[in-house]
Amino acid sequence: MTTMKAVRIHAYGGPEVLHHEDAPLPTLNPDDLLIRVRAAAVNPVDWKIREGYLQGFLKHRLPLILGWDVSGDVVEVGPEATAFRVGDEVYARSDIERDGAYAEYIAVKASDAARKPAALDHVHAAAVPLTALTAWQSLVDAAQLQAGQTVLIHAAAGGVGSLAVQLAKARGARVIATASAVNIGLVTELGADQFIDYTRTRFEDVAREVDVVFDTIGGDTQERSWQVLKPGGMLVSVVSPPPEATAAAHGARRAFVFIQPSGVQLTTIAQLIDEGKMKPIIHTVLPLTEVRQAHAISQGGHARGKIVLRVAD
Ligand SMILES: NC(=O)c1ccc[n+]([C@@H]2O[C@H](COP(=O)([O-])OP(=O)(O)OC[C@H]3O[C@@H](n4cnc5c(N)ncnc54)[C@H](OP(=O)(O)O)[C@@H]3O)[C@@H](O)[C@H]2O)c1
Repeated sequence: MTTMKAVRIHAYGGPEVLHHEDAPLPTLNPDDLLIRVRAAAVNPVDWKIREGYLQGFLKHRLPLILGWDVSGDVVEVGPEATAFRVGDEVYARSDIERDGAYAEYIAVKASDAARKPAALDHVHAAAVPLTALTAWQSLVDAAQLQAGQTVLIHAAAGGVGSLAVQLAKARGARVIATASAVNIGLVTELGADQFIDYTRTRFEDVAREVDVVFDTIGGDTQERSWQVLKPGGMLVSVVSPPPEATAAAHGARRAFVFIQPSGVQLTTIAQLIDEGKMKPIIHTVLPLTEVRQAHAISQGGHARGKIVLRVAD
C-alpha cells in the first residue's frame, strides 16, 4: 500500500480548497511513529493556515495535509522511537510544519506523543492535545499560576478556554470566566467561580485584582485586560504579543505563547484526565469527508468546545 485517503490543500483559500483525495503514505524519520488516525481535531490554526495567514511564520509546502491534533494506534515504530510499541493507543499534537492528521495515517515524532488517557475514546482524546498544551504552557509554564491566585480566562467556552478553566481549578486558583450567556451552565460546571457575559457586561467593570489574564481573543479584549491586573500581574496571550511598553505602563508582566509539542506534558495531562480533574468538551463530531463544514463552524468563532473529525472506527 502506497497511498491513503487524506484531506489536502493545493492552494490557500476558503473551505473549497479542502480536497478529500488520495495522497502518498507518510515517510518515517528514525524517531517517528506511524499512527493510524482514528480521530483528528479541528483548531482555529487549521483554517488560519488554510487561508494563508501564517505563510510568513510557518514553513509549509503545498499540497499540505492540515490538522495537528490526533488520536490513534501506533502501526509502525522508527528504530529510535523506542518508548512505544505497535498497538499502543496514543495522542499527540504533531509538528505543525509537517503534514497533519486529516488523513488515514500520520508520521509523528515519538517525543511529541503520549499514551492517550485511558478514560477517553479516540474522539475525545483527539480533542485534547493542542488546547490542553496551550493552556498548560500559558498558565503553568508562562504564568506559573499558584493556588489562591485569581485568573481571568477569556473565551472560557472555547476549545482552549474550557480546558484552561479546569486546569486553573485543578491548581487551586480562583477563576473568572468570560463567555456569552448561553454558555453560563457549561462554564460554571467546569468550575468557574465568577461568570461574565461579555455581550452584556464589560469585564473590566467587574473583574478586579487579577493575578493572571489569559487572553485567547486579542485586539480590544487584550487592550482592556491590563486594567483588571494587580500590580505585578501577568497578561498571557496566545493570539497577539502583548506590547512590552504597555505592560510596563501598567506595572505588569506579559508573555506570548505559541504552543510547542510535548509528549511529557501530554502524559501529565492524561493523568489529570484519568483522575477526573479535566475533560474535553465536544461541540460536534463529523466524518473526515465533512471537513469543509467543520472549518466553517470553527471559523464562525462560537464553537462550544472542540470540533472533531472521525477518521476510522
Ligand atoms: N498561540 C498558540 O499557540 C495558540 C494555541 C491555541 C489557540 N490559539 C488561538 O487562540 C484562539 C482561541 O482558540 P480556541 O481553540 O479556544 O477557539 P474556539 O474554540 O474557536 O473559541 C470559540 C469560543 O470563543 C468564544 N468567544 C468569541 N468571542 C468572544 C469574546 N469576545 N469574549 C469571550 N469569548 C468569546 C465563544 O464563546 P461564545 O459562543 O459564548 O461567544 C466560543 O466559545 C484562536 O485565535 C486560536 O488560533 C493560539
